[in-house]
Amino acid sequence: MKLLILNGPNLNLLGIREPEKYGNKSFEDYFSELQFKFRNIELSYDQTNIEGELIDMIQEARKDFDGIILNAAAYTHTSVGVGDAVAAINIPVVEVHISNTFSREEFRHKSYISPNAKGVVLGFGLQSYDLAIQSFLNEGQDENE
Ligand code: DQA
Repeated sequence: MKLLILNGPNLNLLGIREPEKYGNKSFEDYFSELQFKFRNIELSYDQTNIEGELIDMIQEARKDFDGIILNAAAYTHTSVGVGDAVAAINIPVVEVHISNTFSREEFRHKSYISPNAKGVVLGFGLQSYDLAIQSFLNEGQDENE
């Protein structure tokens, strides 16, 4: 199983950026932990601050990966283009957020990703990524799928 974690704008500053909301660990450090924990999965990780690049990465991923774990960050709430890219590809996308976006400002309640995501995990800190990975492992075990 090959999964791609894709992070959008400002998530390169994890650990430094608003630590009370996003924690004080860099994503690179957390990603190493994930790779160790899920050593039976081929995990990749990429990040961009640029909307068009994020769209390119989503499109490209469909050729090489079994699924995407996507934290589109602020573009979640603004980008029809990123939402359309998720709709356009035929591999599952699980939407992830570190914070509970529904407990925050109203503008963070809207997501252009969710309508076409397989599922959404949010509000569990960095653990949201871990739970999203587990959702791929549990696939097929749920009779309601
Ligand atoms: C975020 C939530 C977004 O509203 C925000 O713009 C981010 C991070 C999260 O992971 O909690 O950059 O996606």
